[in-house]
Amino acid sequence: RRVLVLNGPNLGRLGTREPSVYGSATHDDLVRLCLDTGAELGLDVDVRQTDHEGEMVGWLHAAADEGAAVVLNAGAWTHYSIAVRDAAAQLSGPLIELHISNVHRREEFRQHSVLSDIATGVIVGLGVDGYALALRWLATTPR
Ligand code: DQA
Repeated sequence: RRVLVLNGPNLGRLGTREPSVYGSATHDDLVRLCLDTGAELGLDVDVRQTDHEGEMVGWLHAAADEGAAVVLNAGAWTHYSIAVRDAAAQLSGPLIELHISNVHRREEFRQHSVLSDIATGVIVGLGVDGYALALRWLATTPR
């Protein structure tokens, strides 16, 4: 199964960005975790990060055309980007919305997601380990 792990704005700064909220793992560590976990599970995993909304929309279109599963950490776009939502809504494979931090115990503006009601499932607050859990679920769940 093909899985795209797509990370949105500011996630390239993991490790230095607010480590008390997001932990000490870098984006490179996150990539390694996903590739190692994918290899172990026999998944074809691709991990990407962008700060540009149009690039993310394009990746989601390609995922829709490929029928790929998507693990999406849309960062701040989660809370307001109808464009990212509309692109994600075109996916035919499973969509897992993921947040490293527990957005529900943070600011009010993080409590709402424009993605959750179109997601297959949501993982929040488990740090970067959430990515490995998402891949494990995808590996054991029939298309
Ligand atoms: C985040 C939570 C968002 O509210 C925030 O804007 C992020 C990261 C998380 O992974 O916890 O950039 O998606």
